[in-house]
Amino acid sequence: MFRTLRLSLRFVVPLAIALFLMALLVVPWIDSLTTRWFVRDVEIRAQLVGNSIDDAITTPLMAGNYPAIEQRFERTISDERLYALGLCLPDGKLVVHTEPWPAVLGCKRVADPRAARMLSDEALHVTVRPVVREGEELGRLLIVHDMSFMQRRSADTRFWVIGLFVMAGLVIAGITVLVAQMSLRGWVASVREMLRDETLRSPAAPASPELAPLVGDLREMLRDIESEQRLHDDMTLHWTPHTLRKLLREQLSGDEIIVVSNREPYIHEAGPNGPVVRRPASGLVTAVEPVMRACSGTWIAHGSGSADRETVDARDHVGVPTSDPSYTLRRVWLTQEEEEGYYYGFANEGIWPLCHIAHVRPVFRSSDWEYYQQVNRRFADAVIHEAKTEDPVVLVQDYHLALVPRYVREQLPRATIIMFWHIPWPNPESFGICPWKRELLEGLFGSDILGFHTRYHCKNFLETVDRFVEARIEYESSTVTVGGRPTRVEAYPISIAWPEAPPAGTVEAARTEVFEQAGLPATHRLAVGVDRLDYTKGIIERMRAVERLLELHPEWIGRFTLIQIAAPSRSSLEEYQRFEAQVREIAAEINARFDSSGPEPVRLLIEHHDSASVFQHYRACDVCVVTSLHDGMNLVAKEFIGSRDDERGVLVLSQFAGAARELHEALIVNPYHIDQVAEALHSALTMPESEQQARMRSMRQLVREFNVFRWAGRMLLDAGRLRRRARLRARLGEDVQELSA
Ligand code: G6P
Repeated sequence: MFRTLRLSLRFVVPLAIALFLMALLVVPWIDSLTTRWFVRDVEIRAQLVGNSIDDAITTPLMAGNYPAIEQRFERTISDERLYALGLCLPDGKLVVHTEPWPAVLGCKRVADPRAARMLSDEALHVTVRPVVREGEELGRLLIVHDMSFMQRRSADTRFWVIGLFVMAGLVIAGITVLVAQMSLRGWVASVREMLRDETLRSPAAPASPELAPLVGDLREMLRDIESEQRLHDDMTLHWTPHTLRKLLREQLSGDEIIVVSNREPYIHEAGPNGPVVRRPASGLVTAVEPVMRACSGTWIAHGSGSADRETVDARDHVGVPTSDPSYTLRRVWLTQEEEEGYYYGFANEGIWPLCHIAHVRPVFRSSDWEYYQQVNRRFADAVIHEAKTEDPVVLVQDYHLALVPRYVREQLPRATIIMFWHIPWPNPESFGICPWKRELLEGLFGSDILGFHTRYHCKNFLETVDRFVEARIEYESSTVTVGGRPTRVEAYPISIAWPEAPPAGTVEAARTEVFEQAGLPATHRLAVGVDRLDYTKGIIERMRAVERLLELHPEWIGRFTLIQIAAPSRSSLEEYQRFEAQVREIAAEINARFDSSGPEPVRLLIEHHDSASVFQHYRACDVCVVTSLHDGMNLVAKEFIGSRDDERGVLVLSQFAGAARELHEALIVNPYHIDQVAEALHSALTMPESEQQARMRSMRQLVREFNVFRWAGRMLLDAGRLRRRARLRARLGEDVQELSA
């Protein structure tokens, strides 16, 4: 209301001033014009009066009968505007005049035309008219008009003219304010609309014609600013836990962070002497845990350990890491049926093989889908329950929880939801197999940001959306808009927390220890594979490559071993049981085939290894082998690089792991091409130290810089930008409401 008044005054005041000035100029002009009209009018009347009494006064004048003339005069001046009549003789004597008669008026005075005019200024108008008989002037008739009516009329005119201007001014101002306000409201609404992501970000989004040029400029500007900002962030920020904490404080003003995933970072298992903590073999946990340590907040996950319930408080919370808690783990409990349907069934027999090209058929059961929805709902409820504010930053992790973004959005519309998909996204044909593909996509559209490891996965996702959903896709800004809600699809390559302090022991010490444990002679050459026992990891292909290496280069028989650490995983699924049996069989077959007096070529360690032991193996080996058939990123590759501060060791890396897009100095292989992998192993084993060092140094520099804090930081920076834009939109919304109030 106050704003409207202010706005109106901004129009009305200048207009009123302009009109007032105009009135000041116009009124004198109108005054002089009307005066001229009245004077002419009066002069005509004076002629008429003169004509009408001329004859009547000539005879008495000649006879010197002045009283008769006076009588006549008195009768004539009963006209209201005729003020007085007088008669002067040629000698300048005033012989007859009416009562009233202006004292200042004498015959001499009117002989001078200028003096007569001056009289007019005194509200009297004098017309001097000669009384003539047969060519002889007998006297002069003075006809005096009262001009005060003219002043009255002039005042009236001035009043009305100014009044008219004021009225016109008010009417014009009113109309102007009305029109201005209407167009302003429309304009503000358009600007507001324009400032929404979908209009500003999308070249396809319609903008009103009058705003179109502005929108174009703003779009360009926004893109420039954002890419400059990103570049700036990438170039200048050396990412550490401290940078991440600072970013949270400054960019997200300390907003609440909630992570939600299926796998928990700390599992409590029942042991003979009470609960023991185990860290799961999970790339997701490896990456997200250091981020949570830096950010604090709450991590919601399935409590899957046998002693998990014993270690939580009444709110199912436990502070972790248990030795020195820095964030809260909130456990969600699932029944056995739920775990079977949601986790083993839909997630790991359905989506997992669907997204990995490993030639294992996905299995989709309606009952699993029911559980998947039910459990996703449960996780979403936990998020809503844990949220202390209306707009927390929620980081949803992985394919187990595709519906959570939508469910959370329904309850917390102002939350900033970042969904990260840790596994590959397949092409539309492959994804099209899923009977509930649309529902999964709709679930994901609840997020503001949807992250993948590589651009390639983003592209597959956008093509999938294009194929199956009614959505607006802007490839330029990588945004999908469904039902007016944009989701930004972006590549954020995940990484590891670069080891902050140098490792406790030397590489030599690690090598000695591992070699002793494995009974390997010091001259032996060692390759290491570290994986979950999963059919996507290319473990069989890796062993076949070792076999082929020994065929092609028999000099390695008895001098080379692959230690394959394989953490048991999802072992209640038949596919995984079959796979384990196959792996054991092939390892045994190869070992039997190349039985020599020396150590066996393949040493299979199907058991859980803690991170210290895995780290020792990385440091002890000559070659680390990652031969995934398909992998989102594969953090083993990066962990190996992080562990080799001696700048030695060679990485053999599958071209089908996301990591191959970054680690160009690895020996990149096609795991299906067994001969090629065998030759790569040979090259690795014979690679000169200087080359090993050059390659390792370059990869170490990259992983150090592109670490997991950068991964999380870039997502949170983008989230911060979205939140600022949402706040701006909300403010604009308030402005428009105020305008329409
Ligand atoms: C992959 C998935 C993770 C998962 C991990 C271990 O890396 O992307 O979400 O945690 O495998 O699998 P698990 O089934 O044991 O959690």
